[in-house]
Amino acid sequence: MTILDGLPKSRRLRKSRQVMTKLNELDLFHKVSITGFLVVFALGIGVTGILYSSTSGRFSAISLFSPGLVRLKYSASPLERALRTTMREYVKSDADVETICRWLKFGGDRLGYYESASPIIQRDCSHCHGKIATIAGVGALYTYADVLPYAKTRGVPIEKLSLRSHVHLFGIGLLLLILTSLANRTSMPHLLKLATSISLFGLLTTDVLSQYLAKLSAIFAYIVWMSGLLFNLFVIISILLILCDIWLRRSSGDIQ
Ligand code: HEC
Repeated sequence: MTILDGLPKSRRLRKSRQVMTKLNELDLFHKVSITGFLVVFALGIGVTGILYSSTSGRFSAISLFSPGLVRLKYSASPLERALRTTMREYVKSDADVETICRWLKFGGDRLGYYESASPIIQRDCSHCHGKIATIAGVGALYTYADVLPYAKTRGVPIEKLSLRSHVHLFGIGLLLLILTSLANRTSMPHLLKLATSISLFGLLTTDVLSQYLAKLSAIFAYIVWMSGLLFNLFVIISILLILCDIWLRRSSGDIQ
């Protein structure tokens, strides 16, 4: 079955000689199915926004709109991220947060830990992250060795990141193929179609790659933020342009 099957019989023959059928020339059934797909795609992006804000819990803002939170997520150590977000309420003052972050910034050495960070952690964190962790699934933060895994790693753990990239690249890649093929069947100028394809696939790849590179430099975390924001914006604009083309542009059949 081809997209030509959606055309009334009289037009099918004529159209089969053309390279592509335009979306606004399809029958009502195909127009409705494609509109359904586009609306579901747009909703998917909206739901991602809610997912971002709810899974980041006490992050309290949609990270898409907050480059600072994106940096903490992809580029900071788990200890800094916890101190500035989910565990902030347990630390007595901002000065204490800065003291520990300064120790992290200057290498997180053993001596510095016992001199500056440990007293604060013992005072504010040990009733939950004590010598033996008191809450199931919560790591102890007591000795220097306990703290190291939270201090010396950066960003999202590699196994989580690779699983997420796997789903993103395959899942969103396929959705983009459908979206750009639909855009290709509109009456948009060729140059705009080409720019849409290149920028959408380019932004997706840049976003995923930068999530890994952000472990090396915070600059890439800001690239993650920017490419994510632009990607969602471009997808929404493309969806709107395609919908306008389907429903508002008169088909050549109507004009005749
Ligand atoms: C009231 C109990 C409680 C206190 C006090 C507490 N935490 Fe936590 N902490 C938790 C729980 C529960 C989790 C696991 C769930 C989560 O991440 O929210 C956790 C998780 C963490 C993590 C892991 C987060 C990650 O991204 O893997 C770090 C790091 C951490 N806490 C640091 C701290 C520091 C530093 C303090 C002191 C300023 C502190 N916590 C005080 C209960 C506590």
